[in-house]
Amino acid sequence: MCGIVGYTGKEQAAPILLDGLSRLEYRGYDSAGVAVCPEGGGSLCVHKAKGRLKVLCDLLDGGAAVKGTVGVGHTRWATHGAPSDENSHPQVSRSGKIAVVHNGIIENYGELKDFLQGQGVPFTSETDTEVVAQLVEYFQRDGADLLTAVGRCLRRIEGAYALGIVSADAPGQLIAARKDSPLILGYGEGCSFLASDVTAILRFTRRVSYMDDGEVAVLTEEGIACYDHLMQPVEKEICRVDWEIDAAEKGGYEHFMFKEIMEQPEALRRAVFPRIREGEVFLEDFTLPEEYLRSMRSIHIVACGSSYHVGVVGKYHLEQMLRLPVEVTLASEFRYMDPIVDQRTLVIVISQSGETLDSMAALREARRRGAKILSIVNVAGSSIARESDQVLYTWAGPEIAVATTKAYSTQLAVLNLLGLHMSRVLGSMAAEERRAVLEDFRTLPEKLEKVLANRDGVQYYASQYFNRESVFYIGRNVDYALGLEGSLKLKEISYVHSEAYASGELKHGTISLIEPGTLVVALGTCLRLFDKAMSNILEVRTRGGDVLALTTESRAADMAKNANGVIAIPDAHPMLLPLLGVAPLQLFAYYAALMRGCDIDRPRNLAKSVTVE
Ligand code: AGP
Repeated sequence: MCGIVGYTGKEQAAPILLDGLSRLEYRGYDSAGVAVCPEGGGSLCVHKAKGRLKVLCDLLDGGAAVKGTVGVGHTRWATHGAPSDENSHPQVSRSGKIAVVHNGIIENYGELKDFLQGQGVPFTSETDTEVVAQLVEYFQRDGADLLTAVGRCLRRIEGAYALGIVSADAPGQLIAARKDSPLILGYGEGCSFLASDVTAILRFTRRVSYMDDGEVAVLTEEGIACYDHLMQPVEKEICRVDWEIDAAEKGGYEHFMFKEIMEQPEALRRAVFPRIREGEVFLEDFTLPEEYLRSMRSIHIVACGSSYHVGVVGKYHLEQMLRLPVEVTLASEFRYMDPIVDQRTLVIVISQSGETLDSMAALREARRRGAKILSIVNVAGSSIARESDQVLYTWAGPEIAVATTKAYSTQLAVLNLLGLHMSRVLGSMAAEERRAVLEDFRTLPEKLEKVLANRDGVQYYASQYFNRESVFYIGRNVDYALGLEGSLKLKEISYVHSEAYASGELKHGTISLIEPGTLVVALGTCLRLFDKAMSNILEVRTRGGDVLALTTESRAADMAKNANGVIAIPDAHPMLLPLLGVAPLQLFAYYAALMRGCDIDRPRNLAKSVTVE
């Protein structure tokens, strides 16, 4: 969840670290810090500040105030210890000679802290990370070099970590270590980098390798040496990242979230068009054998947050296409629930970042039980992608805003394509029906452009309703699933209390909450259930609630008879309507948050990539 960056080379490190951190701030933003090995030796220069990165940048004059060519930087999303200067990273050892940045949680830190305190080591923070700095120093008491001491330390710590370590006694050197938390190595000309996310170093190099669990790396300006958990040298594969640097910039937009909402038509073109050939789905590098697909007895989708909501839509669609049972479970629940999963279950893991810890743990649990793993992932080379039997990339480009938008729509599109592909293998769907969906997929980006072009209407409704205390999203079938996503978008960025319910459930309790002034967003894109949606809207209106409805252009006039306001999306194949319907919900949340003065790209308490449990 935190952001890590490290540099060693000939340039001044601090400006490079601050630039990298500015691209990682979306990962965590309650405090930031850097540690730089000073030119000519001596103690480390460590600077930390509570608050947004800007505070630190101003303090360091954009980095000009710190001299030295090796260093590490960090943006924090607090786990152990409240945001404060003391609890910010880098955490330093007692002598001030070793500095550590860390993403993850050291689970046995209490026990280690007791041990070190028993040895007379004083602690200055409440963090779990400080034990790493102190322990490395402790293991150097016999004169061991930095790498040896880090190796000893790693054998003692438990939990998840991506670590960046510098020592005043090992100038020019940067040590990286990874377990269950992403860490990327970057190869430059006469310099080396480490980062928790490729966007941090993209300006400086496109040549990267992905550290695996248990690996340790020594970075110098000459290059990078990597070792496995037994300290045996490992040859890393160097990949080229082809993301455009601009894609991770705001490009004139006020917020990343808005930019990413507007990028959806293009992202869908990238995700879908190359995968449709001669009227059939073509999935690149698809290696799951057809015999395996025919032997499948069930599908289990696991994911978190919005990716889970994609899975909920997917359950409806895949069951319809494949006539196979499809379960969808929150990854955080799956891993502890003794799931019924075996060799004949295909487990689909959906994740934008490919690094979400719960999703990763669910993947491993499913694999342990013999399931095949197919993942739908945005970030190439991410941990989930690498541990899957089959990966389908969403090709959405970097997603920076904490609130996901283009990742949601591309995940859903790819899941639909996967379902169509499997339906051909299983013979579970008429070929004409499949072609009809694929045909409509071709016009989808244009239709979505139209929805986005009509955003003024959504903005108007947001201006009417942004100050409501409670908002309920209701719908049936995929509209229920869409409501889950609309509700999450609203609450995460605007802090308005909102809940999503299956419309049929209203009468079983929730309707008692409807009173004059309550806003209900009624989703009516599932046209075969349109009349039911109309009845539920009337039930809300009768009790004084206001209804903002979403339906297709062909039914908008009917809907307007019952609702206070209607947002219309173009008609399309039912399977594609959620892809059009989600955009106005994203925009509604965006405008509501804007009108409420919220920090849209950095909502409180959240981070982009959730790499702790
Ligand atoms: C959605 O807007 C969220 N930021 C969050 O729910 C997110 O979808 C979830 O944390 C899963 O992330 P992932 O797709 O990277 O695994």
